Amino acid sequence: MKSIFTMGLAGIMLTGLTGCNDDNNKSDNNDAVLRDIISAQNLTADASAGRDIPSIKSAKAQLGMQLFFTTALGGDQDSACVSCHHPALGGGDDLSLPIGVGADAPELLGPGRTHSDSVVPTVPRNAPTTFNIALWDQVLFHDGRVESLSKIPGKNGSAGGIRTPDSPFGSADAQAGNNLVVAQARFPVTSAAEMRGTAFESGNSNTAVRDHLSQRLAGLVAELSTPDADSSGTNDWQEQFEAVYKAEADVGNLITYARIADAIAAYENSQVFVATPWADYVAGDDDALTQTQKEGARLFFTTQADGGAGCSSCHGGDFFTDEKFYNIAMIQFGEGKGDGADGDDDFGRYRETKELADQYAFRTPTLLNVAVTGPYGHTGAYDTLEGVIRHHLNASDAVDDFFATSVTWCQSVAQLSSVSDCDALYPNAESNTRAALSKLADDQESGLSELLDTDLSDSEVAALVSFMQALTDPCVTDASCLAQWIPDESAGGAGGQQLNAVDENSQPLTSN
Ligand code: HEC
Ligand code: HEC
Repeated sequence: MKSIFTMGLAGIMLTGLTGCNDDNNKSDNNDAVLRDIISAQNLTADASAGRDIPSIKSAKAQLGMQLFFTTALGGDQDSACVSCHHPALGGGDDLSLPIGVGADAPELLGPGRTHSDSVVPTVPRNAPTTFNIALWDQVLFHDGRVESLSKIPGKNGSAGGIRTPDSPFGSADAQAGNNLVVAQARFPVTSAAEMRGTAFESGNSNTAVRDHLSQRLAGLVAELSTPDADSSGTNDWQEQFEAVYKAEADVGNLITYARIADAIAAYENSQVFVATPWADYVAGDDDALTQTQKEGARLFFTTQADGGAGCSSCHGGDFFTDEKFYNIAMIQFGEGKGDGADGDDDFGRYRETKELADQYAFRTPTLLNVAVTGPYGHTGAYDTLEGVIRHHLNASDAVDDFFATSVTWCQSVAQLSSVSDCDALYPNAESNTRAALSKLADDQESGLSELLDTDLSDSEVAALVSFMQALTDPCVTDASCLAQWIPDESAGGAGGQQLNAVDENSQPLTSN
């Protein structure tokens, strides 16, 4: 072993020495190629340029933070937005599939979070990051069921109407509010597995759920554990809403769900983290990226025909997504969305459009801060960037490897690895995935798929991974920077029901 190791090391050192000049040439060349790409693809150094971004210091975003962190918006008051979207977990939950209501320890987020009466996670899709949510202009959710009807660039859906699950496909929801993020914030509270639970407003409409929650915060139904946590004599939520919105004689007019969503969205939209090494490079700093990252960037932005990996055909632009939907035969496991013979499949965009071409198609994710937003894919099937990138290069091989008979596939998914009999609990995982794969193969054959099989060497894959790591804004890994988006534990805000998250070692969550 030792001798092989030393030989390998000597080999690397030799290559390092003899390759010195080559490397310099290659790096000059990569810079020239990348500068051409940057100009040809109109890439800029600020993905948030020209947008109306609320400051986290604004009163509305501060109210939104209290609402985002309060369990009072959970039907049974045990789940909050932050349960699945914590800033110190990359704006997600670090799990493949989330656990919302019914957690054994509601304040424990990330690995180790378990459900009190289900051995497997109860939410069917991976929780996307809320970071840079203000940069989406077309659709939210993996299947785009919150959708801007105008899709005007730079507007976050603030013009032209928004379709939501409360309105028919293609029609505006009159209650959606004034951007995609406001519209989205109306829905988690209506989801049984995420926040609502099964008993709260059982059988009643989304409107009934929202009205009940706003009345709860307003103190019109006596359900808050400590309505006056600061002992000022006034309901804490009333004080907070009055600091942002005009005081009303009737507290029921002051605290409405429309305003709850509006304030939550201001908090989320303040989470803009785009100051990446890549952005510095685009701005002109040749030293902002390593040689390996430059090689990764070249592969990323170059088509297969020109010797690249063709990633930017879908993950293009400053936000690294075209906001469109593709079937890349992502591994399918979990509860599913009620599709397929046994209801455990997930047809993705097809669920909304009912067009066969959209079956198994999911929205192209942004790749900004992707190093901290794993696990990856709409089921969180891949714990590593290398895994999910290799899946793209040859989905058929990746699916074969994932379901290889020599190992139990659950062992490769951190969250499921300790669940005994996990494979048996998801008996259709492989057949559902293979259905997506066979559709992909047909589409590839008939030239309908934009996902092409690509042969890359191990070092080219490593370069792509390394480039992904250059898309991280340093703020998102810095506890003191992130602290602005995490309410002070001692403040005991959020109506005395602030979820102060801890990890599995009972340590407060403060940074990624
Ligand atoms: C139990 C976990 C859970 C909770 C609690 C939760 N979410 Fe989510 N969130 C998810 C999942 C899963 C998705 C993706 C669902 C889908 O695409 O079908 C999602 C999607 C989103 C999105 C869209 C992201 C994108 O890129 O399109 C936003 C924004 C969001 N949630 C905000 C919130 C807010 C605000 C709350 C509280 C009102 C909340 N979430 C509560 C799990 C959760
Ligand atoms: C045909 C369009 C397309 C191309 C080309 C493409 N991707 Fe993707 N990518 C997607 C879609 C769609 C998903 C999500 C699929 C799902 O969850 O079902 C995804 C997911 C990802 C993820 C996981 C992100 C997350 O948050 O879960 C990474 C990383 C990624 N792609 C990187 C790449 C790289 C690197 C390349 C080039 C080798 C590439 N992609 C090429 C469409 C594409």
